[in-house]
Amino acid sequence: MDEPTIPVCDYEGSRYRTEFWEGQGREYEDLTERIALRALLPPRGRRVAHLGAGFGRMTRELGGYDQVIVLDYSRTMLREAQAYLGDDPRYVFVAADIYHLPLAPGSCDAALMERVIHHMADVPAALRQIRSILAPGAAFVLEYANKRNLKAIARYWLRRQAWNPFDEEPVEFVALNFDFHPGAMARWLREAGFVTEKRRALSYFRLSLLKRAVPTRLLVALDGLLQPTGEWAPYSPSVFTLNRAAGDDPPAALDGPLFKCLNCGSPLHEDGQTVVCANGDGRWAIRDGIYDFKAPVS
Ligand SMILES: C[S@@+](CC[C@H](N)C(=O)[O-])C[C@H]1O[C@@H](n2cnc3c(N)ncnc32)[C@H](O)[C@@H]1O
Ligand SMILES: [Zn+2]
Repeated sequence: MDEPTIPVCDYEGSRYRTEFWEGQGREYEDLTERIALRALLPPRGRRVAHLGAGFGRMTRELGGYDQVIVLDYSRTMLREAQAYLGDDPRYVFVAADIYHLPLAPGSCDAALMERVIHHMADVPAALRQIRSILAPGAAFVLEYANKRNLKAIARYWLRRQAWNPFDEEPVEFVALNFDFHPGAMARWLREAGFVTEKRRALSYFRLSLLKRAVPTRLLVALDGLLQPTGEWAPYSPSVFTLNRAAGDDPPAALDGPLFKCLNCGSPLHEDGQTVVCANGDGRWAIRDGIYDFKAPVS
């Protein structure tokens, strides 16, 4: 997996934490996401995968799980996550591509992926990978950016935007940054083997004027009240969904080895500062507490 086959939005060296979140006036967005997540994700469980975890902004929300897989493509993001989250043996830091997950089939009973799928050019491929690591009945909380939002609709009707928010085609507004139609996302989730149980509409008040004029706590409370309307009318810029892994395949393997070989799928075992395939056709490094599947070691 030295070169990703599907393009990845590379956050290596990015200052996402300081340039997008800290002191950037996004407390409203952050808090509304926490409300949605707490309403959707089962609070306790065995093993949860936080996919595209970044610097771990939301990872502490997963504190009711015995083990938390903090997975991201960017090694520098994972270093920040280690510093941000501190020492806790429940966290397992993994550098890997969501399109090629090195996690064993059925090894997790929950997964969270927020603010990540908007970077994905091949959503069905990503969802299939995620479904494969989940045990039957596992909960998958997915956030996506919604192209059919009120602002986009108004701009379209005023002829200030060429693309149609009502058609199901994704819109790539910047390279590797996509907004998706709720109908398309619902279909892709279903085709990947998920049953969507709940949907929440978030961030209707994501307007700088409003955020400056109205106390954050009030906006967040109002947002929380509006979120359940996403069940039937998601016209907000961000949507959170709770999806269940349908069917009984792959069987649950919550106690088994966490990692699988990216070449043959066999379980991996630890050997010093590496993890090794039982078949002998792959070996990956563990560097300063990060299991690194971005490239094999020879
Ligand atoms: C906008 S950040 C969001 C981080 C975090 N989820 C949050 O909400 O704070 C997107 C993250 O997704 C990661 N990412 C994007 N594509 C990925 C892929 N194919 N595999 C793994 N991580 C990916 C990036 O490295 C980055 O850390
Ligand atoms: Zn192998």
